[in-house]
Amino acid sequence: MENQKSKIVNEQSLIKKVGIIGAGTMGAGIAQVAATAGCTVKLYDTKTEALKKAEKDLNKILNRLVEKERIDTAEKERIQNNIQYVDTLRELKDSQLTIEAIVENLDIKKNVFSTLEKFVSDDCIIASNTSSLSIASIASALEKPERCIGIHFFNPAPLMKLVEVIPAIQTSEETLNISVKTIKDWTKTVAVAKDTPGFIVNRVARPFYGEALRIYEEGIASFAKIDTAMKEIGGFRMGPFELMDFIGNDVNYTVTETVFKAFYFDPRYKPSFTQKRFAEAGYLGRKSGKGFYDYSENASKSTAEWSSSSEKSKQIFNRILVMLINEAADALFWNIASAEDIDNAMTKGVNYPKGLLAWADEKGIDWCVTKMDQLYDEYHEDRYRCSPILRKLNRENKTFF
Ligand code: NAI
Repeated sequence: MENQKSKIVNEQSLIKKVGIIGAGTMGAGIAQVAATAGCTVKLYDTKTEALKKAEKDLNKILNRLVEKERIDTAEKERIQNNIQYVDTLRELKDSQLTIEAIVENLDIKKNVFSTLEKFVSDDCIIASNTSSLSIASIASALEKPERCIGIHFFNPAPLMKLVEVIPAIQTSEETLNISVKTIKDWTKTVAVAKDTPGFIVNRVARPFYGEALRIYEEGIASFAKIDTAMKEIGGFRMGPFELMDFIGNDVNYTVTETVFKAFYFDPRYKPSFTQKRFAEAGYLGRKSGKGFYDYSENASKSTAEWSSSSEKSKQIFNRILVMLINEAADALFWNIASAEDIDNAMTKGVNYPKGLLAWADEKGIDWCVTKMDQLYDEYHEDRYRCSPILRKLNRENKTFF
């Protein structure tokens, strides 16, 4: 039994009382993480049904953990007793840290933040789990914006190791330090990211989808062939099209479009017509029963139709990989995060088989530069520009690590 191991919030922990705003997918998961670590949690939602569902779902999850002997019933009760479900924001007044996980709408978030600030003490940290809004814009709603920070969990929060921590330009050193320490106390891996669109993961992962869609649109290979190449040669758990179906083509398209607009229409992040049409047609993926693949009961799935050892499948894999490496390298070039954090983000946030910068070292920086330049020579599009940091490392005969 590991029941005492998970109770790690102790006398030295700075944060013992946590308020969570929004009891949906993310809020409920974050509440479980904080409660498991030993914090007392108040989980607030405007909808009573959401609170009831969160409580019921947690009970189910904990029962499963008891069945698998991962926790005992005493631990289950301890976690449950650590969470209080509340229906007014005012009840969060004694929180030392609040994390907001409500709808992705700037005006609504700002409104909640400025109301919340009236109830909590002066040193309470007010964090947002936003995926796509700037932390600076959310912080601007506060009288004391230095207490605001982004604390971005991945779905499902209790299982995914990575948490991106994003200080805004207003955020104080103290807010950053306490936030990082707290999330580490909760046994998560922290990657500190600059307050820029997509932070680390949602920026660096774009070519996994975008380049795969483009290869399909150019008529080079089918969805299944591209997926097979990425899984069998690259060791990715899911191919790009399987993953887009899993995330939902509507959600994945919207993230791409948001990142594209936020980067002032940089062609590297250009969304794809194919995915747009799939979303418009209601071919959303698993949740609608049909996406790039058919998920109906009698559908047969044919990803193994092609040998991944063919030259063409290697080219497909190399093209997507080098675009991912280039994106990770460019994130380092623009100081979005450290090389370690960029690699950790992709392995712990989206389960990539290897960190992309370590992969670049393994393939050879010269290989990366040559590959990017070949793509640029072929298309003459800015999308295929090689990151300056790859060129510099190549010139100096250096590696990332
Ligand atoms: P969700 O729709 O599952 O849950 C949102 C909850 O917030 C609902 O229960 C709703 O009743 C409640 N809510 C709405 N307005 C509220 C208000 N003014 N006050 C209190 N409660 C309110 O949404 P989800 O997926 O949990 O996302 C929440 C946030 O987390 C969003 O900012 C999203 O961008 C971010 N996020 C989502 C991820 C995902 O995979 N779903 C991953 C990482 C971040």
